[in-house]
Amino acid sequence: MRYSAQTQVIRLNPDAPDKKIIERAAAIIQRGGLVAFPTETVYGLGANALDANAVAHIFSAKSRPASDPVIVHIYDWQQIEAVALHVPAAASTLAAAFWPGPLTLVLHRHPTMPANISAGRGTIAVRMPAHPVALALLKAAHVPIAAPSANLFSRPSATSAQHVLEDLNGHVDMILDAGPTRIGVESTVLDLTTPVPVVLRPGGITLESLRALIPNVQLEEKHLKPDDEAGASPGMLIKHYSPRAEMLVFSGAPDAVLSEIRARTQSYANQGRRAGILVSDEAAACLGDVPAQVCPLGRTLEEISHNLFEKMRQLDAAGVEIILAQAPERAGLGTAIWDRLMRAAEGNVIEVDA
Ligand code: TXA
Ligand code: MG
Repeated sequence: MRYSAQTQVIRLNPDAPDKKIIERAAAIIQRGGLVAFPTETVYGLGANALDANAVAHIFSAKSRPASDPVIVHIYDWQQIEAVALHVPAAASTLAAAFWPGPLTLVLHRHPTMPANISAGRGTIAVRMPAHPVALALLKAAHVPIAAPSANLFSRPSATSAQHVLEDLNGHVDMILDAGPTRIGVESTVLDLTTPVPVVLRPGGITLESLRALIPNVQLEEKHLKPDDEAGASPGMLIKHYSPRAEMLVFSGAPDAVLSEIRARTQSYANQGRRAGILVSDEAAACLGDVPAQVCPLGRTLEEISHNLFEKMRQLDAAGVEIILAQAPERAGLGTAIWDRLMRAAEGNVIEVDA
């Protein structure tokens, strides 16, 4: 049965969260309930990571398969020894550089941590989020908090309290609303349990900045199909972050991509199909006359990642049947944006020749 609760939404100052509200939220965590809270990436759906029943509520609230492990959040480096075993030197190097921040490290799971967090694996994913509300909640709760993104399974991650409410109203005890999240795509997941460190999910910390410290970091390129759920990271499933509309991603030189999007949109309009378009501001300015709902995502990769999931949800709410998206360059934050678009499109990436 799905976890049910009377959902309270409480607004608070993102920079200086009210202590009393944080204490109420921490009390919910301590008694085994669920609290959705902002991080610098996306909203998380949090539960006491030391309580297997509370962790089970996360899976049922999100309708998430038990085979997909969740991330444990901490606020102090000292907590690492309680959640993980044999922490390698690379972990402290990376934590010193990027924590608090959007980097998740996969380590060996401490035997005292509930197995359902890790979907039964011997590993555990850990991160220290860079958001005053998340850090205050972790501190007040006195326990590590297990938290996946606060969306229904396979829907775009929640980047605002409104998105959490859309997906989880009646299935989370409290939503801490501190406005939209800054980065907008999830953390980078880096596996440190393999002989060569592997990025299982590109995210807010770029591959380039990881390689500046650990030069041999590899990017996992294998995109698992849903029947390979036992693979390295179930978050690598192709169908993920999906809007309800069918989605196509176009990659190539911007001019060629724009003329392809323009031509396809015209032919969808001729068939009476409603299309939406996700492109940079620059590209949107050239598409003013196309018969589709054009959503400018921003000028820079930072703006685009910040807006991506919000705009996907907006196009869904507008009821478009098909979404055409422009792929960014696969460098810097563009690697994570490309990955989310590709998954939302279930692998439908079309290379356009100039
Ligand atoms: O930015 C984020 O990481 C957000 C915020 C709330 O912290 N959380 C998030 O969690 O995106 P979630 O559950 O939606 O994604 C966690 C990813 C999934 O791809 C999952 O498969 C992977 O991390 N993961 C978790 N534990 C793992 C493990 N033990 N081994 C390999 N992959 C793991
Ligand atoms: Mg997620």
